[in-house]
Amino acid sequence: MCGIVGYIGGKSASPILLDGLKKLEYRGYDSAGIAVFENNSVEICKTKGRIADLEKKLESEGEFSGCVGIGHTRWATHGAPDDINAHPHKGGNGRITLVHNGIIENYIELKIMLEQKGYKFVSQTDTEVLAHLFDFFYNGDSLEAMSKVMKMVRGSYATAVLIEDRPDEIIAARKDSPLIVGIGENENFLASDIPAVLKYTRDCYLLDDNQIALLTKDTIKLYDINLNEVHKDVYHVTWDVEAAEKGGYDHFMKKEIAEQPKTVRDTLSPRIKDGRVAIDELSLTDEEIKNIGTIHIVACGSAWHVGMAARYIIEKLAQIPCEVDLASEFRYRNPIVRPNDVCIVISQSGETADTLAALREAKSKGAKAVSIVNVVASTIARESDDVIYTMAGPEIAVATTKAFSAQLNVAYLLAIRFAKAKGLIAEQDERKLCEDMLKLPEIIEKLLGMDDFLKGLAKKYVDSENVFFIGRGLDYAISLEGSLKLKEISYIHSEAYAAGELKHGTISLIEEGTPVFAVATQSDLLEKTLGNIKEVKARGAQVIALVGENHNAADEFADDIIRVPEINDILMPSLTVIPLQIFAYYMALGRGCDVDKPRNLAKSVTVE
Ligand code: AGP
Repeated sequence: MCGIVGYIGGKSASPILLDGLKKLEYRGYDSAGIAVFENNSVEICKTKGRIADLEKKLESEGEFSGCVGIGHTRWATHGAPDDINAHPHKGGNGRITLVHNGIIENYIELKIMLEQKGYKFVSQTDTEVLAHLFDFFYNGDSLEAMSKVMKMVRGSYATAVLIEDRPDEIIAARKDSPLIVGIGENENFLASDIPAVLKYTRDCYLLDDNQIALLTKDTIKLYDINLNEVHKDVYHVTWDVEAAEKGGYDHFMKKEIAEQPKTVRDTLSPRIKDGRVAIDELSLTDEEIKNIGTIHIVACGSAWHVGMAARYIIEKLAQIPCEVDLASEFRYRNPIVRPNDVCIVISQSGETADTLAALREAKSKGAKAVSIVNVVASTIARESDDVIYTMAGPEIAVATTKAFSAQLNVAYLLAIRFAKAKGLIAEQDERKLCEDMLKLPEIIEKLLGMDDFLKGLAKKYVDSENVFFIGRGLDYAISLEGSLKLKEISYIHSEAYAAGELKHGTISLIEEGTPVFAVATQSDLLEKTLGNIKEVKARGAQVIALVGENHNAADEFADDIIRVPEINDILMPSLTVIPLQIFAYYMALGRGCDVDKPRNLAKSVTVE
């Protein structure tokens, strides 16, 4: 997720662009740049780092004075954060200058086509393809060129373009990535999100998918992809700036919970081609996969919970022995790792000290390291043999939600890839699983609609001192995550237990009114978990059953029921985690906790 801005008017563009980018830094902050019309040519200043670094570079290289420009703050998806990969990017012989937020899924085939037509690429980004493609189609008509680009590109984009021979115009378009037009007096604005323009105007057009905006300082014209003019109502913003950065949500955590349909889609789509799994980033050959001895999965916190789920899934589908270790334990227990082992390292930040040390430990013993990371070019990503990036965008809230879901879906893809290599999954079963995975975003969207119900449930339990989570198999992995979400933001004591383990001690803690979440979605374990529900019920527990919508066996024993649409058992964790995230959010809210910045915690634990 990145942030783009544009300005066309009578004022100096540079300070307006920089100000707007600062308001969008929550969307990405590993590199930034602006481009401004200066004396009939478009000048660019861009750099690795934050907006502050860009400001320093502008000061040292000389400020721009032009009144038309675009800007970008980056969250890298293709190409490491550096001065070259930073936006804006030039197209053709430099007559096109472009910024982009999104993912061009067919950029490789387009890049090959453009290279064959003589275009030279200087960056590793998918965005540069867009810039050259626009140049390829531009023959004096900017609308025509934009329409042709949009019809040729697959993926998501919010893009703004400056054309050297059109100094009084900015053209922009969107599909799947947000883009708004700020309506000013003798000036107009473009931005990925409302915060960037609020200082100047509260009146906007919110572009829809496949729409084009053509801006001059006095006019705004909107078109569809076929260049039919479009008329939109003006959206008057009532939010304040702070709220707007959270997209109108009260907290980043709530916004990021709501982003999960998109982040799951963005993570899955580029790796399911023609209905089958294709993980281009994984260099392991079928032969190497067949010869894997053990898969060591290492991570911390929520990422470790993904590892717990991944073990069940990989062993079930690919029958490769997996060990799941807390990174802080793995790094010091002198683990037995053999050269034909693979170490899967999971980390949102890619900077967690224990996880990085565990990665180095595994590599020192000859294992191949495959990491699942959200931050491009982070230390763990750079030190891994293969890295599979989650496309979750910046995750601001300390409690992870969208990155967790994206990591989980990468685990599904890896398990299927391993099973394919070993000939353990029939093509039709792979296709069915992929089809079901691609349904997850719409089902998650539906689960987000449980908000009011879960807010009410949280109200009922908000004064609890202890909350337990139980489950078996994949339900246990999600119980762990539900428990961590709750305790880390509401400070309520909570524990997650393998449901079958309760009778070995913990059940002594269950007393009249103790809330127990029972996650029971795995068909083959349902009866057993039901038995555990009865056990805790008999001791006075208040049971909240989290079950598939077609199962009512727990109804008789549960005090509250959360029903989740049913899909392949393996994929249920991707769904059951959503209500647990929302429940934890409202419990923390109800207790007046700082949801986005819980006490004692940091977003990335870069120390031991
Ligand atoms: C999860 O909500 C926590 N913020 C924490 O457990 C986190 O998952 C853990 O610190 C690992 O972080 P990483 O994914 O960036 O390595």
